[in-house]
Amino acid sequence: MTEAPRLDDATFQYSWYPDELVPLLSHSEVKDEGVRVHDALAAHQLLAYIRFTIALESGPVQRVMERLCDPSYLPERSYWLKTEANAIADEERQHAHVHEHALCRFEQETGMQAPSGVPAFVRRLGAITGNLSASEVAFVEFLFVCISETLITSDLRALSRAPQVHPEVRSLARNHADDESRHSAYFHRLFADTWPRLDTQHQHHATSLIPRLLRAYLSPDRDWMFDGISRVWGATDRAESIVNAVCDGACVRERMLRAARPTLRMLATTSVPLEIW
Ligand SMILES: [Fe+2]
Ligand SMILES: [Fe+2]
Repeated sequence: MTEAPRLDDATFQYSWYPDELVPLLSHSEVKDEGVRVHDALAAHQLLAYIRFTIALESGPVQRVMERLCDPSYLPERSYWLKTEANAIADEERQHAHVHEHALCRFEQETGMQAPSGVPAFVRRLGAITGNLSASEVAFVEFLFVCISETLITSDLRALSRAPQVHPEVRSLARNHADDESRHSAYFHRLFADTWPRLDTQHQHHATSLIPRLLRAYLSPDRDWMFDGISRVWGATDRAESIVNAVCDGACVRERMLRAARPTLRMLATTSVPLEIW
């Protein structure tokens, strides 16, 4: 592996993350700060994304895959759906492992630290499942992972194809995207197989849950934006107005709608009567 340039290297020519995937970079006050703040916030977004991926794939994704591997869970499913679940569970464990190493390496190479604490989706999902029974939690997490597994590939592809992004980051994303495109096909098929088997009550429940779960996954993480700003500028009274303007702005809303398209296509194909979310 060639030695990666650091942020203070005068010859630095790559970004750590595509501008269009870093919401804070759209704010005029951030743009006015110049290239060093730009690069540091892009690096922070990369580290946040890797930490998000680890939390996702070692958390709800792993729990859902373990249930799918259990012969007593959804026992009527096809042999292919059950055996493929074992392969995907292995791959997700491997992804979490690879990303743990990548996080350490990129923290060293960027000179930045990943945001501390859990990503917002963990708290949002916990707020939805808080008082539910084990079987209800399993149902919510199943829907959440159907969403996350059909959404994740498009961001990874965008990351892997961004010419301005550091080659090591693109390589990490490309390898992950190759696996995730198969996972997406699996979850499309699993969801299409599951929906007609749900009774009316569960279909109704799922229809009301899915928009909340989409927002839980896609909404920006305000705490991690504050974390990025404070690591780059130190404590600043501008942080709250910047984070609010970015999170409530049209760019974030448009990005969420764009990112949701693969999942919305899956829902439309399966004739899920989803209201606009
Ligand atoms: Fe993965
Ligand atoms: Fe996956």
